[in-house]
Amino acid sequence: VEKILSDKLLTGVKVLVTAGPTREYIDPVRFITNKSSGKMGFALAQAFRDLGAEVYLVSGPVSIKPPFGITYIPVETTEEMANKVEGLFEQVHIVVMAAAVADFRPKVTYQQKLPKENSTSIDFVKTKDILKSLGQRKGRKFLVGFAAQTHDLENYARQKLIEKNLDLIAANDVSRSDVGFDSEENELLVFTRDGRKIFFSRESKKIVAQKLAQLIGEMYLNKQN
Ligand code: CTP
Ligand code: CA
Repeated sequence: VEKILSDKLLTGVKVLVTAGPTREYIDPVRFITNKSSGKMGFALAQAFRDLGAEVYLVSGPVSIKPPFGITYIPVETTEEMANKVEGLFEQVHIVVMAAAVADFRPKVTYQQKLPKENSTSIDFVKTKDILKSLGQRKGRKFLVGFAAQTHDLENYARQKLIEKNLDLIAANDVSRSDVGFDSEENELLVFTRDGRKIFFSRESKKIVAQKLAQLIGEMYLNKQN
């Protein structure tokens, strides 16, 4: 049995995956969020687990069940996700930010429910860019981001790869209804730090996740040698 276990690609490797949306509260019962279902991140966590990795899954609120055999850390807000991710960062080898992190939060979160009469407009401020801040203290870790785009996929993805100091970025066309956010299937255009461009054609998120996890695992191991 030990022989079989140690034959797995990522035995002894720790992987942190984020998934789902984050929520930013206006008051105790109202918040803004996005369409992320968490499916891609959960499928990735499962794929890394199947490659023998020790997996930590930090996820915003989703309606699906976490895979067995991983450490599941549910969060709600971007700030909570940032705290959990930063807390785990030093002890992992690979980070994959598949979460659709809210970009803005209300400037003020009211402690009591706002009567509709006095809620006319909301001021927003930017949230922390979790991935970018990890990129700034990256060390020897392997950092992976996603790029959610409705247009100009390639340009924006390449820009984010550099800006956030990533090793790999997987770009998602979120303007389509057959792939990306809240879909059963996905199609990815992957760009690597070493200049490669790899297309993963439309398949179930499970299959796309297995292929992506394999690629990330191989690139991570190559980088160590
Ligand atoms: N990300 C993050 N923290 C944020 C926003 C995004 O860590 N506050 C991460 C996402 O998890 C993803 C990557 O950054 O891995 C790119 O997210 P994306 O939304 O495509 O890009 P942004 O940098 O947020 O820019 P924009 O939404 O304006 O395109
Ligand atoms: Ca964003």
